[in-house]
Amino acid sequence: MKSLKAINKYFLKYKWLVLGGAIFIFLSNYFSVYPAQAIREAIDAVIHYVDNNETGNAIYLQVLWFTGVIIGFSLLRGVFMFFMRQTLIVMSRKIENDMKDEIFNHYQKLSTSFFKKNNTGDLMNRISEDVSRVRMYTGPAVMYALNTLFTFILVIGAMFRVNTTLTWYVILPLPLLSVLMYFVNDIINKKSEAIQEQLSSLTSFVQESISGIRMVKAFAREEIMHSQMQQQITDYRTKQLSLAKTDALYFPVNLLLIGLSTLITIYIGGIQFMSGKVSLGNIAEFVFYVNMLTWPVSSLGWVTAIVQRAAASQKRINEFLDAPTEINSGVVLDFAFNEEIVLSHVNFTYEDSGIAALKNINLKLEKGKVLGVTGATGSGKTSLAQLLLRMYNPDSGTITADAIPIEKYHLQNYRKQFGYVPQDVFLFSDTIKNNIAFADEKNIDQLTIEECAKKAAVYENIMEFEAKFETFIGERGITLSGGQKQRISIARALAKNPSVLIFDDCLSAVDAATEKEILFELKQVMKHKTALIISHRVSSVQLADEIIVLQHGEIIERGTHEELIKNQGYYADMHLKQQQEEQVSATIE
Ligand SMILES: Nc1ncnc2c1ncn2[C@@H]1O[C@H](COP(=O)(O)OP(=O)(O)O)[C@@H](O)[C@H]1O
Ligand SMILES: [Mg+2]
Repeated sequence: MKSLKAINKYFLKYKWLVLGGAIFIFLSNYFSVYPAQAIREAIDAVIHYVDNNETGNAIYLQVLWFTGVIIGFSLLRGVFMFFMRQTLIVMSRKIENDMKDEIFNHYQKLSTSFFKKNNTGDLMNRISEDVSRVRMYTGPAVMYALNTLFTFILVIGAMFRVNTTLTWYVILPLPLLSVLMYFVNDIINKKSEAIQEQLSSLTSFVQESISGIRMVKAFAREEIMHSQMQQQITDYRTKQLSLAKTDALYFPVNLLLIGLSTLITIYIGGIQFMSGKVSLGNIAEFVFYVNMLTWPVSSLGWVTAIVQRAAASQKRINEFLDAPTEINSGVVLDFAFNEEIVLSHVNFTYEDSGIAALKNINLKLEKGKVLGVTGATGSGKTSLAQLLLRMYNPDSGTITADAIPIEKYHLQNYRKQFGYVPQDVFLFSDTIKNNIAFADEKNIDQLTIEECAKKAAVYENIMEFEAKFETFIGERGITLSGGQKQRISIARALAKNPSVLIFDDCLSAVDAATEKEILFELKQVMKHKTALIISHRVSSVQLADEIIVLQHGEIIERGTHEELIKNQGYYADMHLKQQQEEQVSATIE
């Protein structure tokens, strides 16, 4: 239950709604207790009238009066119930909204390594499933708990005032009802959860088989997929039916217990009546009280089960909210990149795999210069880019920008200076235009977007689409080729107009001719910019002012293209091999 303390700050924020809700619940209960007394008075009056053989219209007026009172009070009760929901349920929706906001905001601050450790499904569940369970606590549970409290105070108070013995007999079976309802609810919740799990397994199965439909067809696996699906839905049905059985028990059990309490009321009430301790009207009054008590009592079990579930959910949410943000923002607000970024003795190991990705790296990225980084796959090129962007902190060594350690800069301001083209392209399900203008959709104009598309050699491809720049890509739109995606991703980085461009193997999926075209364009762009070109292809890095060659996370060679070729080392070797490959593929074509 401790985990739910995290919610208290929201109750405090909406304290007026809580208070208002409590007042409305009290009022609605108050107006539902009085009609029972009016009924007692009406019945006793009628009995008195019949027993004494009275004549006249007075009794009609009296009964009419009580009827009016009962209707009037019931209306008032309804009005206050409306306001009770309008305050407390509205509050729970507001809290739900705040929680989603808080969780999403926190997600965005967490480091990349956090997202490596936790899978997407889990993160999605926290913000949807778990939050809605907590909402059941902040809304309905709080409302019904308060309702139970006030009903108890008012109804039991009224009962004791009428007859103590009868009251004790009537309220004794109630705790039993509460406990029973708790267990029934617990079983229902567990079964619902099993169904939920089965449903998500079923959904991801269908989703996978649809996204992989081409594979399914090519491997002629339709039959097998079908039988797997059958198993999934059978499982789902079995679980649903089992829940339906428990659900079917819920109301009968509830009714049985209400009936039992009513029976006790009439039986004991009858005995008390015979000894003259209560009136017939009192017995009728008590039957009403019993009916008023049963729902709050059985809701007590329901509320307990909900609070337990909410506590478990909030615990999971807290685990994420308490996850430390490893990459903390600094306080130096301005970063314009005027001189250089320097890495000295930088070492970096991936925590989860224990792989030492970078070892003793010393290098300088000077303003206006182009630095090339090459090496085999797994040599640490991408890791280097990640460290420059402060996606990770180095284990040891320092990275300084304009002579200030980069941790000291305000994180977003620092990253804003970079235009990053990642190795694994990610485009959003949106228009091409919005994808290119991703850095700032409001301020990047159409002209800039088109210019950047031209520089990234993707303009002509885009113009071939019917909707041109408004073409929708991704899930609901057209599918782009790997090379087209890469080039849109380049245009996106250029449109940001950053101080430093980082191209991470971004030309791997384009052919040699397009690569030359893009490099020619980029050369113009990079004349006024600082750039880091990462590529396993010599042809992509050879234009750089300085090239460093990585192997197993270490710099093994550095220099200009000419110097490295002259050196006859690893780089020259790579160059030769790649040239030969190119010749072979040229002759095949
Ligand atoms: N997120 C990660 N978690 C753990 N290990 C990683 C991660 N990313 C890369 N590595 C490992 O770090 C090493 C360097 O990878 P990387 O920088 O991607 O090389 P490159 O870009 O040169 O291909 C590789 O051995 C790779 O397996
Ligand atoms: Mg890489």
